[in-house]
Amino acid sequence: MTAKPIIIDCDPGQDDAIMLLLAAAAPAELDILGITAVAGNVPLALTERNARLMCELAGRTDIPIFAGCSRPMVRDLITAEEVHGRTGIDGYDIHEPAIPLQEKHAVDFLVDCLMSSEDQAVTLVPTGPLTNVAMAIVKEPRIVPKINEIVLMGGAFREGGNSTPSAEFNILVDPHAAHVVFACGRPIVAMGLDVTHKALTTKQRLAAIGEIDTRVGRAAHAMLEFYDRHDIEKYGTDGGPLHDPCTIAYLLEPGLFKTKHVHVGIEINSEQTMGETTVDYWGVTKHAPNTHWVHDIDAEGFYRLLTERLARL
Ligand code: RIB
Ligand code: CA
Repeated sequence: MTAKPIIIDCDPGQDDAIMLLLAAAAPAELDILGITAVAGNVPLALTERNARLMCELAGRTDIPIFAGCSRPMVRDLITAEEVHGRTGIDGYDIHEPAIPLQEKHAVDFLVDCLMSSEDQAVTLVPTGPLTNVAMAIVKEPRIVPKINEIVLMGGAFREGGNSTPSAEFNILVDPHAAHVVFACGRPIVAMGLDVTHKALTTKQRLAAIGEIDTRVGRAAHAMLEFYDRHDIEKYGTDGGPLHDPCTIAYLLEPGLFKTKHVHVGIEINSEQTMGETTVDYWGVTKHAPNTHWVHDIDAEGFYRLLTERLARL
């Protein structure tokens, strides 16, 4: 089996960080062409540094890392330090990473990399606001046929929003970018809160990660221990949802997930419901389906996969 070419776009954030470690631990399955950072959980200067820190931790100095957009396409930036801490990956020993940041802008990397690829060759894995991906599509629409599929973390339907009653954070931060991406015409696999809220880092699952006696195991445990506290308090659950690694787990073991092919639209007009993912679950609008909406997960299988792969680094 040849490794699947992917580009990861992220806003680390502890859950993005764990996602990067999981991706880095799958070199046989995933050919990471590059990692692009976007402003989201914390400002861009921190998300790009955190992406470099995680590649350094994983020993993946081979992966080029690019900084992208420092703000959404239209709205002002919203960040989430209350969840992730001031550094974006509180719980980790912050230092200046040895891996350099690439000079090229992330949007230009996305355009150049995709334009030099065959049709339907590259899978995009966005786990933050969709600003970089949307800006690349607007700048060079010819990249769209080069995209195999877009496996993203974002949106909410039955679960409701985590940033407003109707909107999930990634989509709310840049709803206009999400509108561009969901309307681009390439297949989308959307890991919304409906599924990620079923992937809870329970005490038992966190303890299993803590038993990995390596730098990566200790770092992952410390980041998750910090990250979990906010959602445990908010939702009163045994552990917080682990959003972003679900995207990579889907690429590695799609059988862990259940999806429904539906139309998803993005609210960009109403301030009250801005960023809502309008999921036409029962096909009542007759809009052609554009998204494989992920609605269920084998959570035990997901954490088995995650724990086993983290132990490989
Ligand atoms: O709503 C959860 C999403 O927003 C995750 O991707 C988290 O990292 C933040 O970006
Ligand atoms: Ca994220």
